[in-house]
Amino acid sequence: MENKTINEFVVIKALEDSVNVIGLTRGTDTKFHHSEKLDSGEVMIAQFTEHTSAIKVRGAAKIYTAYGEVESESKKG
Ligand code: TRP
Repeated sequence: MENKTINEFVVIKALEDSVNVIGLTRGTDTKFHHSEKLDSGEVMIAQFTEHTSAIKVRGAAKIYTAYGEVESESKKG
């Protein structure tokens, strides 16, 4: 795997309280391995690593990646 992929960062800014940033494992099994709770206005800067192949965001947040920006939405509406 290219190191570029491993080094990539995503920036997640919570737009409400209790946004969860969940890391999913790399490899044959895809499982949650870490969940980080962000409150409104809090920012997390995360990398894809040897252990993390995917990141799930639950709740309303702005997500900035090398490919552009996207907004996740709140389930509460
Ligand atoms: N121990 C994890 C790892 O090195 C930490 C981590 C990195 C993480 N990126 C993440 C946790 C994204 C949650 C979301 O892979």
